[in-house]
Amino acid sequence: MDKRELIVALDVQTRAEAEARVKLLGDAVDFYKIGLELYTAEGPDVVKAVKAFGKKVFLDLKFHDIPNTVAKAVKSGGKLGVDLMTIHAVGGKAMIQAAHAAAAEYGAAAPKILAVTVLTSLDQSDLADIGVKDRTPAGQVEAMAKFAVANGANGLVCSAFDVGGLSPLLPAGTLFVTPGVRPAGAAVGDQKRVATPAVAVKGGATHLVVGRPILAAADPVAAARAIRAEMDSL
Ligand code: C5P
Repeated sequence: MDKRELIVALDVQTRAEAEARVKLLGDAVDFYKIGLELYTAEGPDVVKAVKAFGKKVFLDLKFHDIPNTVAKAVKSGGKLGVDLMTIHAVGGKAMIQAAHAAAAEYGAAAPKILAVTVLTSLDQSDLADIGVKDRTPAGQVEAMAKFAVANGANGLVCSAFDVGGLSPLLPAGTLFVTPGVRPAGAAVGDQKRVATPAVAVKGGATHLVVGRPILAAADPVAAARAIRAEMDSL
């Protein structure tokens, strides 16, 4: 199995704060997630800034629009040199295929497209509200995961807790990017269902997204290195 990647969630509001964290972590971390908060505040400049440090970027904007618009947004991400991008699987077959095709135009440098299946904030009654009445959240996650990958998604965002059940159902080479990771003994914060790096990796995670357990640690470099060591030991 290829080396698994550790991705640090840059959950900050300004480009200056983002740059300070990337600088602080230095060569302990080479992959960062930029999400809606930071991107909406700072735009593509923050992606360029992180790339300028020689780091990889997971641009987590969860696109969900008509196929043409999503394809163009993926193209813009490819132009910025991002490595991973997210779309919502419920955007449908044509949208997923369009995202895949737009990414493929970048050849070897193509951003990998990850599908979000069911937001972890949704429960059974939320699904019923949007018309999904015949599946449990877990059943919906499984169905959407298979659907997204069959239509060209390179992988999935899924909880570190659920990856073990999902990975055997999907083709080899599927990426599993898992937030909700907590080293044994770390503060759980607002996460409800967390797994240790070892559990996530053993379950098939290829990329672990970790925010506060690294950025809020007394020694962020040591925290990142400890998680990396746990991942590499498996
Ligand atoms: O600080 P923490 O490690 O909890 O950060 C996890 C990151 O992963 C955050 O950026 C959060 O928004 C994201 N995420 C998550 N759970 C999901 C999807 C994304 O925690 N289901």
